[in-house]
Amino acid sequence: MGRFMIAVLPGDGIGPEVIAEALRVLEAIGHCFGHRFEFHEALIGGAAIDATGSPLPPETLERCRRSDAILLGAVGGPKWDDPTAPVRPEQGLLGLRKAFDLFANLRPVRVFPAMVHATPLKEGIVRGVDILFVRELTGGLYFGPRQEAGPDGNEAYDTMRYTRPEIERVVRLAARLAQGRRKKLTSVDKANVLAASRLWRQVTEAVIRREFPALALEHILVDAFAMHLIRRPAVFDVVVTENMFGDILTDEAAVLAGSMGMLPSASLGETPLGLFEPVHGSAPDIAGRNLANPIGAILSGALMLRYSFGLEAEAQAIERAVEAVLAAGYRTPDIADGETCIVGTREMGEAIARYILKEWKG
Ligand code: IPM
Ligand code: MG
Repeated sequence: MGRFMIAVLPGDGIGPEVIAEALRVLEAIGHCFGHRFEFHEALIGGAAIDATGSPLPPETLERCRRSDAILLGAVGGPKWDDPTAPVRPEQGLLGLRKAFDLFANLRPVRVFPAMVHATPLKEGIVRGVDILFVRELTGGLYFGPRQEAGPDGNEAYDTMRYTRPEIERVVRLAARLAQGRRKKLTSVDKANVLAASRLWRQVTEAVIRREFPALALEHILVDAFAMHLIRRPAVFDVVVTENMFGDILTDEAAVLAGSMGMLPSASLGETPLGLFEPVHGSAPDIAGRNLANPIGAILSGALMLRYSFGLEAEAQAIERAVEAVLAAGYRTPDIADGETCIVGTREMGEAIARYILKEWKG
């Protein structure tokens, strides 16, 4: 029977709606398994800019620091998109990742059996897909030396820079996860062109050979991997890659799962404090209309139970409930295929919470 403090950062657009459903499902888990989850809301992103002028106010950082985990919705929107604005909502999210040194972003991509028809790809290609992406999250192009365009607007640059320890720690984390799965690790880089990728490949090779000799390691160039990912996705197990490649490839991988709305993520560092957020963005076009798919946020709650609190049975209860509700035909509009029961954000959350209460209430 645990007591856990959770910093809840709903953010912008559909963030608040999907987070409300994740909390509903966590409440159901607390009820069935006898845990107490304490939710403390704080501001981030555009909402925080509007209220305080900063996308990551000090009170939010402090709230996160005093919590066992952070649950985040989404940040950004057209309102704050002005390229000349001094601050952007995304800086709140990037700042949070950096502040807690959350260097590994886990993005599991599993295709639920009920969802094999929901993708534009052939059923035979997506059936059985179970990939765990491990995206490096605090280095590379996102955090390397940069120059904004000056008043003349003639030049700007970002730098992909990696150090050996930065590569070692994320590769080790990915390798440990691969050991608990199908023992296959794919490292994605662009070593035929980029110096940072050549270091990445060399360090990855050394870490695996020295410390994880039982793993099968392969290196694939990012352009080829982008193709293999939709041609033969079922062959991949754990995929480790640098920040920017991981950002792009996991959006592509969302197509396998049927929708961006389905994917959860966990950002982890060396301490138990993790940041959990759906992979999708703030989707301002559908915000506030009960249309968003809350499953990515709900499954992020499951990852929080697993990785920050060590509650494996509880995490699986959420995953099984999602699977059951999908099998029963519930669909939000983004994953609807015509013949199933189309529901809103709230109704999807309620159905998942109801299933948990029915199955696990002692
Ligand atoms: C993601 C998002 C973020 C990123 C943005 C919102 C800064 O696309 O989490 O994948 O690029 O990392
Ligand atoms: Mg992204």
